[in-house]
Amino acid sequence: MATRNIILLGPPGAGKGTHAERLVADYGLVHLSTGNILREAVAAGTELGTQAKTYMDAGQLVPDELVIGIVRERLAEDDIQQHGALLDGFPRTLAQAEALEGVMEQLKLTNLVVINLSVRDEVLIRRLSGRRMCESCGGIFNVYRDGVETGQSCPSCGKGELYQRSDDREEAIAQRLVTYREKSAPLIEYYAQRGLLIDVDGNDAEDPVYQRMTANLD
Ligand code: AP5
Repeated sequence: MATRNIILLGPPGAGKGTHAERLVADYGLVHLSTGNILREAVAAGTELGTQAKTYMDAGQLVPDELVIGIVRERLAEDDIQQHGALLDGFPRTLAQAEALEGVMEQLKLTNLVVINLSVRDEVLIRRLSGRRMCESCGGIFNVYRDGVETGQSCPSCGKGELYQRSDDREEAIAQRLVTYREKSAPLIEYYAQRGLLIDVDGNDAEDPVYQRMTANLD
């Protein structure tokens, strides 16, 4: 059977990263998160990181050409050819979606499903303001749900400390939601027109949302 490829769409805080971890474990896909790649580049102080940081901190999108280049290279690697990709945070603009279509055709990556997580704004804001991440394993936690706090050691790996992302501050969250509506929300219609979209209500707790996603996939 041809490998499966999945795109996870949804506003900031919809739960893309959270569900990506589970989908990757259950379906054997390779996780490709442009947000994670960019944050690693910022932390490592590479040229890409230096260019991306200003946009990310301001809640703006990093220019298409930078992100498309990263994804094009990563998709061509053997593990994705063999196991399929779970794209989290890409595409985010119509230009990225069109570029992805071309790259996937070129690389003969087929069998694409697009899952859109729909979540209300007030739920998104609470999730984002409460999010804490592990500096070591990248684990995702929440102050309100998991009772964690900044600076404590990671409940999952025990190695890293939990920190708050610099774009999870109030002003940056508001700007990210505006950017999402303007630039990324049109992708829902783009993939619906192509008959590839599964829309999932993502407002509930993690388990019921995941069950809804996988029921649609299976
Ligand atoms: P990125 O890292 O992709 O951020 P995002 O899309 O804004 O998404 P988030 O990571 O904020 O949210 P998520 O949906 O993954 O939610 P999570 O699972 O963590 O991008 C960051 C920046 O990089 C962008 O702003 C941009 O500058 C740049 N960038 C990245 N890709 C780009 C691209 N393609 N083009 C241009 N620029 C790009 O969950 C959030 C919180 O909620 C967590 O605390 C979690 O524990 C909790 N939670 C999750 N699900 C539930 C649930 N069901 N119930 C209760 N709590 C939940």
